Amino acid sequence: MQGKYRALWINENEELEVIDQTKLPFSYETKVLKTTDEVVTAITDMTIRGAGVIGSVAAFGIYVACSEVNNYSDLQKKAKLIRDSRPTAVNLMWAVDRMMDQLKKSTSLKDDALKFAIELNDQEALESVEIAKNGCDIIEKILEQKESKKFNILTHCNAGWLAVIDEGTALAPIYEAQRRGIDIHVWVDETRPRNQGASLTAWELTQSNIPHTIIADNTGGHLMQQGMVDMVITGADRVSANGDVANKIGTYLKALAANDNDVPFYVAIPASTFDFDIEDGVKDIPIETRSADEVKYMRGVDENGVVREVLITPKDSPALNYGFDVTPARLITGLITNKGVCKANLAEITKKFNS
Ligand code: MRU
Repeated sequence: MQGKYRALWINENEELEVIDQTKLPFSYETKVLKTTDEVVTAITDMTIRGAGVIGSVAAFGIYVACSEVNNYSDLQKKAKLIRDSRPTAVNLMWAVDRMMDQLKKSTSLKDDALKFAIELNDQEALESVEIAKNGCDIIEKILEQKESKKFNILTHCNAGWLAVIDEGTALAPIYEAQRRGIDIHVWVDETRPRNQGASLTAWELTQSNIPHTIIADNTGGHLMQQGMVDMVITGADRVSANGDVANKIGTYLKALAANDNDVPFYVAIPASTFDFDIEDGVKDIPIETRSADEVKYMRGVDENGVVREVLITPKDSPALNYGFDVTPARLITGLITNKGVCKANLAEITKKFNS
């Protein structure tokens, strides 16, 4: 394990335990997920979130489900509930399908499920290490061309260790930059409506003493115009065969601003985020729609340390809450993967991952 922390683990009672991300940054609490229903709820209510970690928890969710069934066919029904819990991050479907495929011939479902889920997570962790190195090599290259030794990187949402085992994707090169002694500073998009940047990314960076500044989502374009951003890195929830990238809502606008200002825009992803069944991501990647209340209410802590949700809109105004958008491949400088960096196009992706 390269990172210091993990978002989920198997505890001493062989139960699945996760950090409750809905409580961060105000309190650190964990939850034990004992049933398939609890696993499904934890994914839908975003107790745990982030594409990679959703896949990880789904893999261990199959292990949890094994205690509720007597045979593979019943396990398939439980697996479907987990697989359908959120629509956009393909890591979820990938993890469930891989687990079920491996378990097809098993004579000891529960033992094998635990073994396969651990293997899947170990593989994700190794890929995160490679993404860290490959992404940081790019940071070093850009830095060589700069007069100042300070490196300003902008990120959107949370793609650190809370989102992918074990140092994340977009944040992995940043942790590596810190290890290599680079003077790095991170612009953290707040990431409305659920504020994963302001709450989770800022919390993660604080744990590792990485200098950062939280900005309102609309600030990035201005910073880029003023030469205050050297590079943008985001994670992704699904990358189609043609290199289009689905990520947290607002990513597309950052890519447009980066393109207009010649700021390199990179997307960091493990192999599990590719979806070769979708050719045109803008057209066909399914986009999650979430509750309007996430837009209408804000959560925070009051002067007595009590967490409260407050309404910030007229009570009866309607709101619309798309969770993700798709950035077309033409706006992406490169994909930082565990197998190296490639252009976001079919030929290069296929050469690296599907040959
Ligand atoms: O709705 P979330 O918090 O699960 O969305 C997370 C993101 O959009 C991340 O940027 C994405 O999962 C990439 S990190 C694997």
